[in-house]
Amino acid sequence: MNNQEINQERRRFLVLATAGAAGVAAVGAATPFVASFFPSEKAKAAGAPIDIDVSKIEAGQLITAEWRGKPIWVLNRTPEQIKDLASLDSQLVDPNSTAADQQPEYCQNPLRSIKGKDNIWVAIGICTHLGCSPTFRPDLAPADLGANWKGGFFCPCHGSKFDLAGRVYKGVPAPTNLVIPPYKYLSETTIRVGEDS
Ligand code: FES
Repeated sequence: MNNQEINQERRRFLVLATAGAAGVAAVGAATPFVASFFPSEKAKAAGAPIDIDVSKIEAGQLITAEWRGKPIWVLNRTPEQIKDLASLDSQLVDPNSTAADQQPEYCQNPLRSIKGKDNIWVAIGICTHLGCSPTFRPDLAPADLGANWKGGFFCPCHGSKFDLAGRVYKGVPAPTNLVIPPYKYLSETTIRVGEDS
């Protein structure tokens, strides 16, 4: 290689090295944006809110998400199920949800949902007795739960029963209604759990 060839080779190397460094810088600059757009696993565990598309939940269907390491239930109640709730009051411990710390103020009503959005019910799926996960039992009058059963949740650990608003029945070990987390509607189709206005 003569001197001119050596110089040309060196220039080519420098151009490539500069392009490579620019690429690394570009990736480095992009990472913080992506990281701030998607909450990290650590942030999620610490309680970052979660968004749920409720338009995909069919009538009568229950889905489970996760927030702060807890199961979050979202149930799309049918008009029939909503109507049946009113007939259960006399069998329940706290039908009007007067216990203030079991739900946000905007869910302190017999349906335990945000006004005007009666069908969508959100709750933490943990029994208020000793923390088991109750089973979804939407079936009507099953043999094991009795002829008056209008659908609800049954805790297999010690037999607590809750209706489809998470209201606890009298005479079972669980002392209070299921807990409703803070949530709000971001749009007609999406709720955010873990944050309200
Ligand atoms: S933990 Fe549910 S009834 Fe005991």
